[in-house]
Amino acid sequence: MATLLIVHHTPSPHCQALFEAVVAGATAPEIEGVRVERRAALAATASDVLAADAFVLGTPANLGYMSGALKHFFDQIYYPCLDATRGRSFGYYVHGGNDVTGAVRAVETVTTGLGWRRAAEQVTVTGEPGRSDLEACWELGATLAAGLMD
Ligand SMILES: Cc1cc2nc3c(=O)[nH]c(=O)nc-3n(C[C@H](O)[C@H](O)[C@H](O)COP(=O)(O)O)c2cc1C
Repeated sequence: MATLLIVHHTPSPHCQALFEAVVAGATAPEIEGVRVERRAALAATASDVLAADAFVLGTPANLGYMSGALKHFFDQIYYPCLDATRGRSFGYYVHGGNDVTGAVRAVETVTTGLGWRRAAEQVTVTGEPGRSDLEACWELGATLAAGLMD
C-alpha cells in the first residue's frame, strides 16, 4: 500500500488546526489504498522517509526560516534519503505571524536539493486560520494522498 508521510512541527493551536485539516483531507473516505503516517518533525527518521511515497511538510515560520524542528528533520534525512527519494511528490504548509517568505524559500531550497517534486501549491497562513485556509490545507492533504491511489 502506498504511504503518505506528514512531517510537521506543531507548536500552537493555529498550527494544530492546519495539521488536522491536512490529515482530514488525506484520510477522506474517497481516498482508498493509501496509508497516512504522521510524524512530529523531531521524531521523524530517515527510515520513515524511505518507507513513504509522498510527503506533506508543515512548519511555522521562525526567524525568517522554517522551524528549527523541521530544519533538524532535513539535517537528519538529507543524505540518507538523497539518492532513494529523488522525484517523490511533496506539498507543504507554513503558518506565520506576518511574513512567511523566508520559510517558504527555505523549504523550496531543501526540497529542490532533494529532488522532490512539488505536487500542489504551498499553503501559507498568517494569524488565525480562516475557513479558506483550512479548506486549502484539506485540499493539500487530499491532493497528495489522491496522487498515490492506483
Ligand atoms: C522565535 C519565533 C520566531 C518567529 N519568527 C517568525 C517569522 O519570521 N515570520 C512569521 O511570520 N512569524 C514568526 N513567528 C510566529 C510563528 O510563526 C507563530 O507563532 C506560529 O506559526 C504559531 O502561530 P500562533 O502563534 O498564531 O499560534 C515567530 C515565532 C517565534 C516564537
